[in-house]
Amino acid sequence: MKAAIMRAFGDTDIPQIEEIATPKPGAGNVLIKILAAGVNRLDHYIREGSISPDIPLPHILGADAAGAVAALGSGVTGFEIGERVIPAPGFPQKESEFDVRPVVTAPSFALPGLGRWGTYAQYMEVPAPFVMKDDTGLSPEETATLPVALGTAVRALRDVGEVKAGDKVLIQAGASGSGSMQIQVAKVLGAEVATTIRSEEKRAFAESAGADQVINTREQDLVAAVHDWTGGPGADVVIDNLGGDVLAQSIEAAKPLGVIVAFGFAAGPQVSFDVRTLFFSQKQLRGSMASDPEHLAWGLEQVRAGRIRPLLDRTLPLSRAAEALQLVATNQVKGNVVLLPWQD
Ligand SMILES: NC(=O)c1ccc[n+]([C@@H]2O[C@H](COP(=O)([O-])OP(=O)(O)OC[C@H]3O[C@@H](n4cnc5c(N)ncnc54)[C@H](OP(=O)(O)O)[C@@H]3O)[C@@H](O)[C@H]2O)c1
Repeated sequence: MKAAIMRAFGDTDIPQIEEIATPKPGAGNVLIKILAAGVNRLDHYIREGSISPDIPLPHILGADAAGAVAALGSGVTGFEIGERVIPAPGFPQKESEFDVRPVVTAPSFALPGLGRWGTYAQYMEVPAPFVMKDDTGLSPEETATLPVALGTAVRALRDVGEVKAGDKVLIQAGASGSGSMQIQVAKVLGAEVATTIRSEEKRAFAESAGADQVINTREQDLVAAVHDWTGGPGADVVIDNLGGDVLAQSIEAAKPLGVIVAFGFAAGPQVSFDVRTLFFSQKQLRGSMASDPEHLAWGLEQVRAGRIRPLLDRTLPLSRAAEALQLVATNQVKGNVVLLPWQD
């Protein structure tokens, strides 16, 4: 099969297409023919070596995919060859831990493309309990935008942030793959949503995802704008996809007793804030990482019901994976880029 292979850490021209052996499904596993593979910012961090320099090389990136069943390992039932499926974006490597929830707390949890080979290939092997049926009716390239962004958005907003109908929610970086999906999930939960952009060029996209208020942080003071929007107290819940020097503002933009969910670090992994802004008004800073198959299943129900839609920026052939990652790294993407492993 063809796969985009990483043989060194770095950027610009990594990974490159190579021909490697097609996996044969082991007992209990499903071999998935990958029809489309979604690109996440995490993939760029992994290739540049900033997540871990210890990942064994060669390596295959990618946590997101939409595919079809190609073959079944012994003991697997309940799937038809050719049936459209979605590999869960993360699962334990040991069968004894398959029922651990949150699944990310299983000691052997691995994200495809990080702890094991991922989706930037024509085939991948996945344990059957983590193969989900794709009955969304979407094209493979649309489905491939969903697993990471949708599952993690459901977990971060519904379970960790405990967003309720009527809440005012601030989502940082509304044009990002994660942010644009979080806006949609927050709206399904009945919240009012404000989001941030840094250039007017991304305003229409953030609005089309469903944001009620779009704040350009290059033109407006974020904390003042959120306080104006909420009529004084601040947001009930803030989803911080940015970290870096933005997290301090996310904390200030939350109301007393409000919740700030640390979700990402697009603005940098090191943060600094005055601890008094957190505990004087008893705000809660919580982390959210990855999702369970049940989060994605709930999100896919919303997709089927027409309440959430994929936000596909563009497709590129798998041979242009390095270019796709460069687009993400330089913030040129709205929503998600998707790679097509069977297109030349
Ligand atoms: N916790 C989880 O389970 C989980 C899951 C998925 C992703 N993440 C994390 O969430 C973050 C976003 O991921 P993604 O895939 O959505 O990324 P993405 O689509 O590449 O979007 C990132 C956005 O961040 C904004 N940005 C970058 N640097 C910034 C800065 N210094 N200040 C303000 N905004 C900045 C850019 O927006 P503009 O250029 O439009 O301003 C860019 O569009 C990443 O750190 C990722 O690792 C976490």
